[in-house]
Amino acid sequence: MKKEMIEQLIDLAIKQLEFSYVPYSHFKVGAALLAKGGEIYTGCNIENAAYTPTNCAERTAFFKAVSEGVREFEAICVVGGKDGVLTDYASPCGVCRQVMMEFCDPDTFQIIMAVNKEKYKNYTLKEMLPMGFGPNNLA
Ligand code: THU
Repeated sequence: MKKEMIEQLIDLAIKQLEFSYVPYSHFKVGAALLAKGGEIYTGCNIENAAYTPTNCAERTAFFKAVSEGVREFEAICVVGGKDGVLTDYASPCGVCRQVMMEFCDPDTFQIIMAVNKEKYKNYTLKEMLPMGFGPNNLA
């Protein structure tokens, strides 16, 4: 993937931190999901007083896209930090990796974890979720 695209995804993910609703953890997460058609869907984490209904930033982005009929994806960028201060990589939780497994090719889908535009790293979904269970297992 081109560096300019990665930088755009990082910018958009960081912008999402403004919308994170995190009265309980104060840990803000932003995501930018690139669809194969070139569209970008953003997401933030949305917490809940009952805790378990909390939605991670990555899933917010996925569900926005899927709810608009988009199901093929190339990459997602994730950023996060306490009070929105980015000091370290934010790694997608297991539930979000499983949602990625539903819609993405684990061999090629890229997960970009960023601290800023100069400091980021990317892994394939397969690296992040080895031997994942997905739609193919039910085919
Ligand atoms: N969180 C995400 O948004 N994405 C992840 O993959 C890790 C965790 C959120 C959920 C919760 O609002 C906060 O970070 C602390 O767990």
